[in-house]
Amino acid sequence: MCGIFAYSGPGDVTQTLMDGLRKLEYRGYDSSGIAFFSTDDRIQCVRACGDISELEKLLSDEVRESSGKTGVHSGMTSSMNGSGIGHTRWATHGAPTKDNAHPHRAGPFYVIHNGVIENEGELKNLIDPQSLASETDTEVIAHLLLRFYKEEKGDLVKSVFKTMNCLKGSYAVTVLCEERPGEMIAFKQGPPLALCKGEGWIISSDIYSVGEDVQEVIFLEDGEALFLKDQEFQIYDRQGRKIQKEFKIIPREQSLLDKKGFPHFMLKEIFEQPDVTRKILENSIHRHEGQLNVKPAGGDHESFNRLIKKVSSVRIVACGSSYFAGLFGKYLIEEFADVMVEVEPASEFIYRKAVFDTNTLILFISQSGETADTLTALNRVKEKGLKTISLCNVPNSSLDRQVDYGFYMQAGQEVGVASTKAFTSSLIWLILLAFHFSKERKTLSSEREKSLVKSLLQLPPYMEQVLGYEDFFLETAEALKTFSGFLYLGRGVFYPIALEGALKLKEIAYIHAEGYPAGEMKHGPLALIDKNKAVVALLPSEGILYDKTLTNLKEARTRGAEIIGLGGKDTSELKKLCNHYLPLPKLPEFLLPVLAVIPLQMMAYYISRSFGYNADRPRNLAKSVTVE
Ligand code: F6R
Repeated sequence: MCGIFAYSGPGDVTQTLMDGLRKLEYRGYDSSGIAFFSTDDRIQCVRACGDISELEKLLSDEVRESSGKTGVHSGMTSSMNGSGIGHTRWATHGAPTKDNAHPHRAGPFYVIHNGVIENEGELKNLIDPQSLASETDTEVIAHLLLRFYKEEKGDLVKSVFKTMNCLKGSYAVTVLCEERPGEMIAFKQGPPLALCKGEGWIISSDIYSVGEDVQEVIFLEDGEALFLKDQEFQIYDRQGRKIQKEFKIIPREQSLLDKKGFPHFMLKEIFEQPDVTRKILENSIHRHEGQLNVKPAGGDHESFNRLIKKVSSVRIVACGSSYFAGLFGKYLIEEFADVMVEVEPASEFIYRKAVFDTNTLILFISQSGETADTLTALNRVKEKGLKTISLCNVPNSSLDRQVDYGFYMQAGQEVGVASTKAFTSSLIWLILLAFHFSKERKTLSSEREKSLVKSLLQLPPYMEQVLGYEDFFLETAEALKTFSGFLYLGRGVFYPIALEGALKLKEIAYIHAEGYPAGEMKHGPLALIDKNKAVVALLPSEGILYDKTLTNLKEARTRGAEIIGLGGKDTSELKKLCNHYLPLPKLPEFLLPVLAVIPLQMMAYYISRSFGYNADRPRNLAKSVTVE
């Protein structure tokens, strides 16, 4: 939440900042702003409410105006070195107004911040509250810096550490000081910040925002502070001691801010799911031998295999869609590997006494690898000396860097705020992990393994087949958009998919929806059902859960609900019972959820689109949730 992009070096500084901010906009789009040294060594600050295009408009007006007055093209240096800081905001303290947009100023200091200062109220006693011009916690940081800078007679390092020592909460901060052209400061506790070496220096919340030619990166760790001066830099540790850190070479894909002809990233990402699945399977199975080949990308695979042989239980900790994927993982790992699994939202896990046995393996699932609650949970279990693994989509993210064994979702950059392809990647990985556990624990026969591999390979073409049912998605979306509430029902492995389907609808279409275990309906939610409600039911192809879910569906139908059914069976009874029914291709039941989630994503998307909403940027949300 909130994106930071700062640059010091040659070329067009404002252009570089704007290019970087555009790639970080997924982190917040309430407001944005930049501050940069103009050629007369004064800092020019431009802030705008709304998305980056608003800042762009304002910037060209202000730069044009200041060029007229001073004869200089502010910030637009070419061979000379310049510097500037840029911010895109997801509002926490203070409404999304221009006054609350970053950078915030105190004396010569211009500050941008990602995070939440929890003791902001208390800190106001250390500064003159009359001097505050905004409702933000960030402005307090700027005023503290100013106070300590005066007290320490211009010693920047001491002022920064005195400031950091006062702050409670989470912060990634970048600062420009008008008295010190050519210098830039950054410090952090919690949210990510990386120093990237290119033609100049970039400090950013996310290395995806930096061109692919820039591959040398230093990740700042919590408590560290970075001082950049005349193109040289020095990092200090939490105790204020100078430290040397090596650059890591991080080859990576360029930020893919190209919708490839789709109206939204979300739709593009939904359509990428078959190829993402192909890629995961290519790297994790031996197709011809019909065998699994599951290895962590980070950490030694032999020691990982030794570890999973001896684990007594698995605890999965994650948030949002990643948590729902974790619930699916529980069904799979317990069913196929016979290992007990508990799943918990990270935000609950971190504020209670959690009891483990020492052979519990903790699995963190996170698309971004930067979710604050999940990272706090990681710190908690590391303190207890437990072994940790992650399933993460962003290599070198804070989560990936700190776990014992890291698996990569391999979904490619996910730009749409609502998770789609990262969710399905998580499902695929959890299936692979469940069977890998089973194989290593000698409960998987080679026949079973071969048949699993065969079924897995059917997934990508079947996903493509499901994506082809566009007429069904459009028709149902049109028919459903007037309903005031939705219940998504499923049992067993379909229950987590029901939760995910309801979340998608809430997030991007702003319609109240609940995911529920189908059998729990009669214990309360049935009271909600009337002709204004829609029930989306996910059915297996056969067996006791099919029969039971069908009964639950009939109960809802009897009470007047509009019924949308998805499942592995194609019968006239189902078509009669449901107002809209989509049969899914035939696959073993534990794989069917991977297909079932696609229509739920598509229906949510088309309902959202029919209202004219921007599915890529749901209101009040941001992609990377770096605050608790
Ligand atoms: C839902 C969604 C969120 C995230 C959640 C966790 O569409 O995107 O619920 O799943 O914020 O994020 P990660 O997986 O990055 O930890």
